[in-house]
Amino acid sequence: MVCAPMHVKLSPARVWAANAITAILDHGQSMDDFLAGPNGFTAMSPRDRALARAIAGTVLRRLGQVDAILALYVAKPLPPKAGLMRAILRCATAEILFLRSPAFAIVSEAVSMAASKGKTRAFRHLANAVLRKVAAEGAERLNDIPATLNIPDWLRQNWQKTYGEATIENAAKVLIEDQPTDLTVFRDPAIWAEKLSGTAIGGPSLRIASADRQAGDITKWAGFEEGAWQVQDVAAALPALILNAGADENIIDLCAAPGGKTAQLAACGAKVTAVERSSSRLERLDQNMKRLDLKVQSVCADALQWKPETLADAVLVDAPCTATGVFRRHPDVLVLKTPDQVRDMANTQFAILAAAANMLRPGGRLIYCVCSAQTEEGEDVARRALKELPLGPLIIETGALSYVQAFVKAHELRIPPGAWADKGGLDAFYISAFTRQ
Ligand SMILES: C[S@@+](CC[C@H](N)C(=O)[O-])C[C@H]1O[C@@H](n2cnc3c(N)ncnc32)[C@H](O)[C@@H]1O
Repeated sequence: MVCAPMHVKLSPARVWAANAITAILDHGQSMDDFLAGPNGFTAMSPRDRALARAIAGTVLRRLGQVDAILALYVAKPLPPKAGLMRAILRCATAEILFLRSPAFAIVSEAVSMAASKGKTRAFRHLANAVLRKVAAEGAERLNDIPATLNIPDWLRQNWQKTYGEATIENAAKVLIEDQPTDLTVFRDPAIWAEKLSGTAIGGPSLRIASADRQAGDITKWAGFEEGAWQVQDVAAALPALILNAGADENIIDLCAAPGGKTAQLAACGAKVTAVERSSSRLERLDQNMKRLDLKVQSVCADALQWKPETLADAVLVDAPCTATGVFRRHPDVLVLKTPDQVRDMANTQFAILAAAANMLRPGGRLIYCVCSAQTEEGEDVARRALKELPLGPLIIETGALSYVQAFVKAHELRIPPGAWADKGGLDAFYISAFTRQ
């Protein structure tokens, strides 16, 4: 028997989550792109928005486990004509097992949602039967389904080979936790740590634990309006710290938007030229610099074509990458990225690095970084640069970086996935420092 009448009013949050999950998992759209399109998010109440994000986020963070549970009860895969049905089942399963909402209401609403559309209507009885099973025995069956399954096979194998088994356990742990918010503070981190009830991590970084996060909009937090800080993962703040810009140095920030690193360099008093290919992203960079009251020259150009008028004292290359290192806050990367993309990216990254080397004066510094956990985009590109480009290694000074010293080896800094698993996590990141010969 189907347990919900067809006239039940559907929760906008659950409908939104099902649409988001379909767009990401069935049509390969990123969450950011989905949010940028017409999707009804802003029309929802704050409560519905929170629920919608929680459901979609939980499906993405627990996808391996959710699908393993569903596979126990769905005898054969749903056909493509089932439309939103897969997403409805995934969202309801995630909500029942991990968000601990009342199971009866979720099952009932999922069935109503299935019944409300032509494509899914034929599957409403299946939804009812499957989700009742999930509600009755899913939690127990989950004991045999480890959280490491939430990392896709190819990444699990790659990370295991590169970093070892403990990394997989740690990455799986940080993936399913609530994420802290990290801030980079431009002056007096200790004072802002107190004002925002955060923890000073080291350098300019503060961490606001998710449980301590002040309710509501981050733009309302103390210090946002006056430009005292910017949101930036502890790891993402490191390349600019390693570059160690001097006042009045002439620095090029290639691939610069939305400008997190540009801001750090400009705050040191350096003359920064920020080069970015995307005009809409460059607009965001300009807005961010305005809020932070920092002066930079922003240029909309392709790093592969653009040439500076004078050679720079230093160049920072935050290259485009697969971003597999930022899976904690962007779990959609785990399902959207492929080994082919890693290979393609490595070629682009080397080309941008070669262009950057030609923008430097002899003796100038070059910092190359990627938020990818894949060595093909990090270590391999840097090794090739040392062989083929007029660049030598520049040893990273760890004096001001004692809090991340464990990740530094000579001219390289590598943060593996799942790092700081007991302290709220850290994005996986690779940085290499060079000097122009
Ligand atoms: C990792 S993001 C940069 C993040 C930024 N550095 C920050 O700290 O906020 C990479 C950026 O490179 C830009 N990009 C990609 N290819 C480029 C190219 N050939 N020339 C210039 N910018 C490029 C992308 O549009 C994207 O904004």
